[in-house]
Amino acid sequence: MEIKKVGVLGCGLMGSGIAQTAAAAGFEVVVREVTNELCERGFQGIEKSLAKFAEKGTITADQQREIRGRLTGTTEFNALADCDIIIEAIIENLDTKRDTYRQLDELCKPETIFASNTSSLSITEMMTATSAARQQRFIGLHFFNPVPIMKLVEVVKTILTDEAVYETAVDFGKRLGKVPVRASDKTGFIVNRLLVPYMLDSIRALEEGVGSIVDIDNAMKLGCGYPMGPLTLGDFVGLDTTYYIAEIMFNEFREKRFAPPPLLKRMVLAGLYGRKSGRGFYDYTVDPKNPTPMNLL
Ligand code: CAA
Repeated sequence: MEIKKVGVLGCGLMGSGIAQTAAAAGFEVVVREVTNELCERGFQGIEKSLAKFAEKGTITADQQREIRGRLTGTTEFNALADCDIIIEAIIENLDTKRDTYRQLDELCKPETIFASNTSSLSITEMMTATSAARQQRFIGLHFFNPVPIMKLVEVVKTILTDEAVYETAVDFGKRLGKVPVRASDKTGFIVNRLLVPYMLDSIRALEEGVGSIVDIDNAMKLGCGYPMGPLTLGDFVGLDTTYYIAEIMFNEFREKRFAPPPLLKRMVLAGLYGRKSGRGFYDYTVDPKNPTPMNLL
């Protein structure tokens, strides 16, 4: 089966990035959001990102227009009915996702592949909201932020995923210009299974006074060649999101390494979510490009 038309559910940070990436790869893309305002906000992000690529000369002005022309926003589920693949990037709430999949299953053509961009929920639990035939066409496609830049996509199979569907999805990942890695439906897949304990340990190191915020970040950035230190990365991913993922992983595996540290919980309770709320391990409110470390202990 050849994928030509791509549906994206959700035009937030991840959904808009996925839609942009698919359109840049030449696919016709329909993005569905709950309201026109949310849709417009997502498209503004896409336009900003395309403008960055055009400024740098990565794409020409003509390509910029063509990519934008392949993207359509909608608030209607019906507009997704004839898509060959639907990539869902809505709120990380299992009930909401299951409800959405149930509706889409009735609406979409039988061949449509369903893919979730979830970072930590079970693909199998979402899949069971759909019919037996669709369950074989249900996978995970986990992208990384910022989607237009990060080269990886995790392609996740369940115990029911049809082999041909899975290979189509792996090939689709390559056509998006990403490097697909194969993973099975175990909570956190490959990246978060390794990344989340590392991020949580960096917070525990801070709590235990091993080093300051800046020193912990510099240690990993300059000592290991990572693009960002772990605490900066936490602010970038969102500390509420990190906390939420850690809770899911801890509940699944009951292992201490996935347990959210008390400092993380308190920061989330206090509304320190990282970049998106203006403050996290760093304060971005004065100069976002040169944030200052917070006094948290
Ligand atoms: N669109 C277009 N261009 C973008 C962009 C976007 N959305 N975001 C960044 N860029 C460009 C910038 O314009 C810049 O271009 P030049 O080098 O040509 O100037 C380039 O990317 C680098 O950006 P910056 O100079 O702003 O900063 P940087 O060098 O630190 O790079 C980064 C930014 C790419 C985000 C880099 O810091 C990085 O790779 N960080 C790690 C990100 C990461 O680990 N992401 C995964 C998080 S985990 C996740 O997403 C999944 C989960 O389940 C939690």
